[in-house]
Amino acid sequence: MKKFLTGIFTAGIIFSGAVAGDAAQEVEKLAKQYGCSGCHAVDKVKAGPPYRMIAKEYKGKPNAKETLVKSILGGSMMKWQSKAKKYKIKIKMAYMPAQHGVNKEKAEKIVDLILKLDTK
Ligand code: HEC
Repeated sequence: MKKFLTGIFTAGIIFSGAVAGDAAQEVEKLAKQYGCSGCHAVDKVKAGPPYRMIAKEYKGKPNAKETLVKSILGGSMMKWQSKAKKYKIKIKMAYMPAQHGVNKEKAEKIVDLILKLDTK
């Protein structure tokens, strides 16, 4: 019985690890496809904040998804200057232009994945 439970536990860890890894891969793939990669990566600071940091900032907050989708579709300005200080990074660009390459559906898809990123 004990062995059985340990087995389930281990499988659980491996499984959740795989899911988190997939989210990162999926985000990178979509970002490339949607034309975001020039300014964002999952872990690297580029012109914009890394997606994992965005996840850390918004995970669990009410309206996280709506807020981020709106930023992507309509642009975002100066929000990350103070947040960058908090995370001890430097964001060179003060705004993200509205992303006309994506529609609401695509923006929601990538935001869902960003919010799934492992933030530990
Ligand atoms: C020209 C560079 C550039 C491109 C291209 C770009 N971003 Fe950004 N992005 C930024 C910058 C700079 C910020 C920080 C804006 C701020 O401080 O308000 C940002 C912020 C964000 C945020 C956080 C918004 C918030 O409300 O906190 C998300 C989510 C995001 N980008 C997703 C995307 C996605 C998805 C794409 C592709 C469809 C994309 N970005 C393309 C530069 C870019």
